[in-house]
Amino acid sequence: MPEKTVLVTGGCGFIGSCFIRSLLERDESVTVINLDLLTYAGDPENVGEWADSPRYRFVHGDIRNAAIVDPLVAEAHWIVNFAAESHVDRSAGAMAGAFVETNVHGVFVLLDSIKRQRPDAHFLQIGTDEVYGDVPAPDRADETAPLAPTSPYSASKAGGDHIAMSFLRTHGLDVRISRCTNNYGPFQYPEKFIPLFTTNALEGLPLPLYDGGTQVRDWLRVADHCDALHLIMEQGQPGEIYNIGANHEPERTNTEIVRLILTHTNAPESLVEHRRGLRPGHDQRYAVSTEKLRAMGWSPKLDIEQGIAETVRWYAEHRDWWQAKKDRAYQEFYAEHYGRDREAASS
Ligand code: NAD
Ligand code: DAU
Repeated sequence: MPEKTVLVTGGCGFIGSCFIRSLLERDESVTVINLDLLTYAGDPENVGEWADSPRYRFVHGDIRNAAIVDPLVAEAHWIVNFAAESHVDRSAGAMAGAFVETNVHGVFVLLDSIKRQRPDAHFLQIGTDEVYGDVPAPDRADETAPLAPTSPYSASKAGGDHIAMSFLRTHGLDVRISRCTNNYGPFQYPEKFIPLFTTNALEGLPLPLYDGGTQVRDWLRVADHCDALHLIMEQGQPGEIYNIGANHEPERTNTEIVRLILTHTNAPESLVEHRRGLRPGHDQRYAVSTEKLRAMGWSPKLDIEQGIAETVRWYAEHRDWWQAKKDRAYQEFYAEHYGRDREAASS
């Protein structure tokens, strides 16, 4: 197989680092360049032992900076863009502008660089199912469904998708988009639902369950997401969008996910703290049709019970990793977002 250079952006985050580890493992002909700004969510150690591999190079920088992006794109056969501001709660706060800058303008800078320097390269934009907005049961959005994002986060991701597709139509670039449902697994920064609740449960801290816990998300193991991305790179087509999701039957509410976490952490239900008003515009349900990808041969390897058990075990065995993430900046965000409950609970 010919040698291939893959520029991964945002590869120090949760999903990007899983993608890099799995890509380097599955294909010996691949060299990875990882461009990451190292925001609060990025950690260069998330790529594990691959950090020392001659097939891996880390570049600390911003996808919005063409001077940094250009020489890297010039080397690349593939550009896979994970770089993003990714937390919905933060997108409702003071840093909302960063969501637009990275998730929309950053995508433009990457594509403009590809257009100028490597119009033969392939571009995979890592999108989200949240661009379809709140989907009433029993519907599932397929790839042709209209975009109806509801949060500044999902709106910025929809903007990125539109920019990406415009470079296919206008400039003839090979652009592909994946739209995955909620991911969970190792190395997820402990601000999102599953790692937050798991680590808080392990510490005996309150579990701030929003709005009655009736909401539905289609949780997918990060490793299954990355398998789908490899398939899209290998067998997907330019201009195509691919939904990715577990399609749980029956669907799981947030309350049911909390029950699984409590079971596997051996934590009492009394830790659950019912909260309202922390997520303005809270979407009730996300659901996508994944028939297109499944017809290509993909399916998740573990079910949600196995996946949560495996994930809780990882967090229980990697306290150093997540305790270091719960630093002063994290505590400040936590106190500002959740109020004084955490301080009260830990004192
Ligand atoms: P994450 O927040 O864990 O990681 C984001 C990474 O991007 C971090 O390493 C950060 O340092 C980097 N980054 C941010 N701004 C940057 C910039 N301007 N230049 C370079 N690097 C920058 O996010 P994640 O959960 O791994 O999500 C990765 C991608 O997948 C995102 O595009 C997100 O929208 C999408 N996605 C996430 C989920 C999920 O459940 N987490 C589901 C579907 C899609
Ligand atoms: O659907 C894909 C998206 O999933 C990704 O594009 C996003 O990057 C990712 O963050 C995720 O978005 P969500 O908003 O669905 O994930 P989050 O983990 O923040 O919330 C999941 C559910 O849990 C949601 O209904 C809100 C609820 N929740 C979340 C937090 C952080 C709580 O009840 N309490 C909490 O403290």
